[in-house]
Amino acid sequence: MSTLKSILHETRVFPPNEKFVKQANLSGIQAYHNLYAEAERDLPAFWDKLARENIIWHKPFTRVLDESHHPFFRWFDDGELNVSFNCLDRHLATQPDKIAIIFEADDGKVTTATYRDLHKRVCQFANGLKSLGISKGDRVIIYMPMSIEAVVAMQACARIGATHSVVFGGFSAKSLHERITDAGAVAVITADEQHRGGKINHLKSAVDEALAMGGTGSVKSVVVYKRGQGNLALQVPRDVWWHELIKDQSDSCEPEWVNAEHPLFTLYTSGSTGKPKGVQHSSAGYLLGAIMSMQWVFDYKPTDVFWCTADVGWVTGHSYVTYGPLAVGATQVVFEGVPTFPDAGRFWKLIQDHKVTTFYTAPTAIRSLIKFGADLPGKYDLSSLRLLGSVGEPINPEAWMWYYTVVGKSRCPVVDTWWQTETGSHMIAPTPGAISLKPGSCTLPLPGIMAAIVDEAGHDVPDGKGGFLVIKRPFPSQARTLWGDPERFKKTYFPDELGGKYYLAGDSANRDLDGYFWIMGRIDDVLNVSGHRLGTMEIESALVASPLVAEAAVVGKPDEIKGEAIVAFVVLKGARPQGEDAHATVIELRNWVSGEIGPIARPDEIRFGDNLPKTRSGKIMRRLLRTLARGEEITQDVSTLENPAILEQLKQPVA
Ligand code: WT7
Repeated sequence: MSTLKSILHETRVFPPNEKFVKQANLSGIQAYHNLYAEAERDLPAFWDKLARENIIWHKPFTRVLDESHHPFFRWFDDGELNVSFNCLDRHLATQPDKIAIIFEADDGKVTTATYRDLHKRVCQFANGLKSLGISKGDRVIIYMPMSIEAVVAMQACARIGATHSVVFGGFSAKSLHERITDAGAVAVITADEQHRGGKINHLKSAVDEALAMGGTGSVKSVVVYKRGQGNLALQVPRDVWWHELIKDQSDSCEPEWVNAEHPLFTLYTSGSTGKPKGVQHSSAGYLLGAIMSMQWVFDYKPTDVFWCTADVGWVTGHSYVTYGPLAVGATQVVFEGVPTFPDAGRFWKLIQDHKVTTFYTAPTAIRSLIKFGADLPGKYDLSSLRLLGSVGEPINPEAWMWYYTVVGKSRCPVVDTWWQTETGSHMIAPTPGAISLKPGSCTLPLPGIMAAIVDEAGHDVPDGKGGFLVIKRPFPSQARTLWGDPERFKKTYFPDELGGKYYLAGDSANRDLDGYFWIMGRIDDVLNVSGHRLGTMEIESALVASPLVAEAAVVGKPDEIKGEAIVAFVVLKGARPQGEDAHATVIELRNWVSGEIGPIARPDEIRFGDNLPKTRSGKIMRRLLRTLARGEEITQDVSTLENPAILEQLKQPVA
């Protein structure tokens, strides 16, 4: 636990600079404390006021929070609104010609859309979806490259009240199939191609493959955006080109007014079991979280050029590409490519070219760029920057310092934002005009977020001791349930062991004597690989689905760039392979997992044994496997092991 050691010894503190404080939306530590205290005094009254001030309601709500069906909370639940109206129409009177999106494609080509343009495009596409018979409550899968069209597709679903479920373009046909069937989707919106780092990924053929796997009878239409050459045959009448669909559609579309609790989207994420879960979000509460965090954490100003590098396939791309920035009326950059193409100066050049003020990315991207030296960012004009953000995994203090000094020139606060797919928006993060920063800490909870650290029985632990991170009171942007599986929602997030009262985040954390939170890592079998969440069980099921594999156990090990790397311990059905044979099998299995889940799940290392280390009752001792994966000496007690000799076999990676 090198991160753990270094953060416990971290003593550097960076108070906000005067210039930043002066212009901040939340200015000075007292303002933060006052707001936090206001929420503590009367939580519903706190959110009531914010919801009225920040959301445009078609029908105002009279009820704020309903806890009677704990933990299935309801917020503002007799109110009506439309999220797309709140992101687009509300700006038409005040700033129709402001640029909403600056899109930069993988090859560097730039296109822009004003709020007026975007509104028209969303209306047209929404009318197109309606012409296919799609309506309120239907589920629509979106499997698209980063593009203005991806944002349009999500916003158009929101406009007609269809619940979207975006599947990251890096997921395999099999993963896509699993999500289509679980959601019971009526349509899939996709593209012919996705371009990343000069490489082409054929999304539409993955859709065809997924729909040929069976059980997908609910899908009536496939809409295909022509990103590339469009060299593919459509299966008529199921498939339709995006440009054909919108051709004769009107560019105005009355929004479908929905209840505050109407599911805006579901997003699949990994948990402790093999099957990804469909995290379901509301409309109003979710939107409020996105808006407030834009104001509090990103200190949003109308003059900002905002850039969140996340793909819309992840929750970060939902809250800080598609919804948050548009709801507050920002100009934002949407980017299709990767940080190292055509070279490792891509991010810095983009910041320079578009005069980005607010830059939000993942520690893994920062660490991969540190490798190229401080000279590289130094070659670009980064003086437009005023705020830097980090998300997705713990940021080690060294990477934080590099980000702060080399990229931000010690001028820009770094906001380390802790949150999750399930929380919808930032939970613990600095309000940068108020809170002093400590490298590696996500600092203090946002106003209205009653974060705490408890032990196995749900009792508060003293500061400095560490335990489970929980959120004690409901908050508007939290997930409402798991799609089709309320029981699993309750069991996973409000377990009886903790008295069923608190939202259990699944992370362990420590709080120091200043009340600052330090995230230590997951308490479940979830890995965080380059900021992507993967279940070990998910990768194990993929491995044992291979005809070669009898048994598999997957663990994580620390990795300098990715945060965590995937190590798989595998028992084959045939003999334990040696030499060339072992090498070839490793390649075969890595590709197999990539095909089953997607390239992000490809194991970094595979080791073969005649067996796995098990207790006499047959339980795999994962703790030992983690030690082996790290290449450390085993100091644990192995006397309960059925087969201690196996450890020797599993010590070495395949050369
Ligand atoms: C898990 C959630 C947050 C949106 C993207 C990932 C880890 C996330 C941080 C952070 C330390 C972090 C946690 C969390 N995580 N942000 N700032 N510091 N850890 O969303 O895929 O739902 O993953 O990512 O372990 O539980 P996600």
